[in-house]
Amino acid sequence: MIKKISHIAMVVPDLKQATSFWVEALGLTLGHIEPVPEQAVDIAFLPVGESEIELLEPVDEVSGVARYLSKNGPGMHHICFEVEDMEAVLERLKAADVPLIDEKPTIGSGGKKIAFVHPKGTGGVLVELYELPPAESQETRLASVRQRLSQKGHVYSAGLQALWSGFRQGNSEAE
Ligand code: CO
Repeated sequence: MIKKISHIAMVVPDLKQATSFWVEALGLTLGHIEPVPEQAVDIAFLPVGESEIELLEPVDEVSGVARYLSKNGPGMHHICFEVEDMEAVLERLKAADVPLIDEKPTIGSGGKKIAFVHPKGTGGVLVELYELPPAESQETRLASVRQRLSQKGHVYSAGLQALWSGFRQGNSEAE
């Protein structure tokens, strides 16, 4: 049911600045970046073996992630497990009286199912669960990200814009 650690997420005040440690000093690669307007965050994913580091930058002052940052400062925000059969995993947690933030999964980019488990039930750690649709590949995922990025009217933070143009440049240089 639990397949692997999908990602570990850090909240950062500035994505571009955060990459000076994660990319330049530590040597990870920027896999892709993605605005998530519903949560008012910009996200960068940095692959590490089978898993990823996720960097979250809040783009407003009032979202959940923004409030977390102002209360706790930068640092670890959540751990995400990739699961098989999300409904069964949620049933199992409900049966164990674990409080869920999402009783039913929401659908994220590329059609993945997402649900959060409340830190009250996990010993203080925000736990995210992912179930990828069967057809999802890196290519379909990137295509959906590109589509979202090209949508008119989305306001990017300056940090995300700088990261994204660097990312595209790096990709075209590699071709
Ligand atoms: Co996450």
